[in-house]
Amino acid sequence: MPPILEARDVTKRYRLGAGDVDAVRGVSLAVEPGEFAAFMGPSGSGKSTLLHLLGGLDRPTSGDVVLDGALISRLSDDAATKLRREKTGFVFQFFNLVPLLSVWENVALPFTIAGEDARRAEHAAAIRAALASVDLAGKERNRPDQLSAGEQQRVALARALVRRPALLLADEPTGNLDYATGTEILDRLWRSCHEGGQTVVLVTHDAKAAAYADRVYVLRDGSLRDEIRLGRREDHGAAPLIARLADLGL
Ligand SMILES: Nc1ncnc2c1ncn2[C@@H]1O[C@H](COP(=O)(O)OP(=O)(O)O)[C@@H](O)[C@H]1O
Ligand SMILES: [Mg+2]
Repeated sequence: MPPILEARDVTKRYRLGAGDVDAVRGVSLAVEPGEFAAFMGPSGSGKSTLLHLLGGLDRPTSGDVVLDGALISRLSDDAATKLRREKTGFVFQFFNLVPLLSVWENVALPFTIAGEDARRAEHAAAIRAALASVDLAGKERNRPDQLSAGEQQRVALARALVRRPALLLADEPTGNLDYATGTEILDRLWRSCHEGGQTVVLVTHDAKAAAYADRVYVLRDGSLRDEIRLGRREDHGAAPLIARLADLGL
């Protein structure tokens, strides 16, 4: 099967008054359908920039991104946005919920933004299923500020899942959560991949989170430094990854 996501010699240069920043430097990689991939690296290594390029939220300075067979980096803004909405769901560190909307309305947003009526029976059923799958049934009318941090991230996850995108992209989704709550989010991402067949790309600086992945890409200063194949492991133990990182001197 062709990869669902491909980076071909992708670079991103931010132009700043005082000097340019090369946030991503010539990254090439391919993510297979149904794979769980992680990008790991210290703060400032280019993880978020790369994830945004891969998900079509931003355009590379050079190189190409191929999303499910389409050269998203070459599409018009409108066409890239449409493709991104069809194929991807994003989860961010700071949840990015709309504070004035209820939980239900936040999860309905992917339909609303696409100009569809979220109350239509099949959409309402998808919203119900997404909320149930993150154990938030009964919280539909709450506003985000009436929820715990972990619950807010579960709303964000339900919103990313509601249209069942082929690709889930998560940028430090556990960065603002305690260990137990973060584990719930990682377990849910894992189920989407292992049981639901969705492809997951997780950005994290945390080896315990990266250990959920089949394959870990290590980023340093905008370049791919190493690729560690862990294979699919139901226990998500971090010991093999930590040992490999130590071997590499990381
Ligand atoms: N919008 C931006 N404008 C200018 N520089 C940026 C911007 N976003 C990120 N950078 C810089 O690019 C580099 C990589 O940042 P980022 O992708 O956020 O790394 P990470 O997610 O690994 O912490 C850093 O040096 C950061 O300061
Ligand atoms: Mg980041």
